[in-house]
Amino acid sequence: MPLSHFLFFLFHPLCIIIKYHILSIGTGTVFVKIPILAVKERMPVFQVVEYKGTKEANYLLLIKQLKALVEDEENRIANLSNASALLNQFLTDINWVGFYLLEKDELVLGPFQGLPACVRIPVGKGVCGTAARERKAIRVPDVEQFPGHIACDARSRSEIVLPLIADGELIGVLDIDSPLKDRFDETDEKYLQMFADVLAQYVK
Ligand code: SME
Repeated sequence: MPLSHFLFFLFHPLCIIIKYHILSIGTGTVFVKIPILAVKERMPVFQVVEYKGTKEANYLLLIKQLKALVEDEENRIANLSNASALLNQFLTDINWVGFYLLEKDELVLGPFQGLPACVRIPVGKGVCGTAARERKAIRVPDVEQFPGHIACDARSRSEIVLPLIADGELIGVLDIDSPLKDRFDETDEKYLQMFADVLAQYVK
């Protein structure tokens, strides 16, 4: 293709709209992966969708959205920030969702959505530190029954923490709090761990 035709296709507004629609149909999502075009056409980078399927199907759509958000970006903070925002608009009945990242032998607060939280948690302490030490998901149906639970937000009644592991290395944990007791079940654990496993590949 001659350069002039290529440039015409790249920048002509009509072609941009056509390409956008192809992308939307092709992926089944509504992310624009070409930021320069999004700016030019004033399209949103993220469009809220209704999660209308089964719980499992909704989680699979969420993971598809996660991949679309992070796959072209290498910056760890950007990807963790968007991942926490994505979870926050997906999950119901939660009051905190975010990341703690491993630095030496402690977890340090990373990107999150919710009230300001404790900054440093030693590995082995609290729910987060225990999940990090054991490198496995921990579901706490009632935080008052978990010895050593660290209360950052007084409203939290139940919690789930999932390890972020890439290439066998612990990167940190994904922590989610709910104001309801017993908010997280086995299905949540299964798919949130899948979410954490996918994300870990983009933040290592
Ligand atoms: N509850 C956590 C501390 C982090 S906050 O919930 C954000 C814990 O016990 O490790």
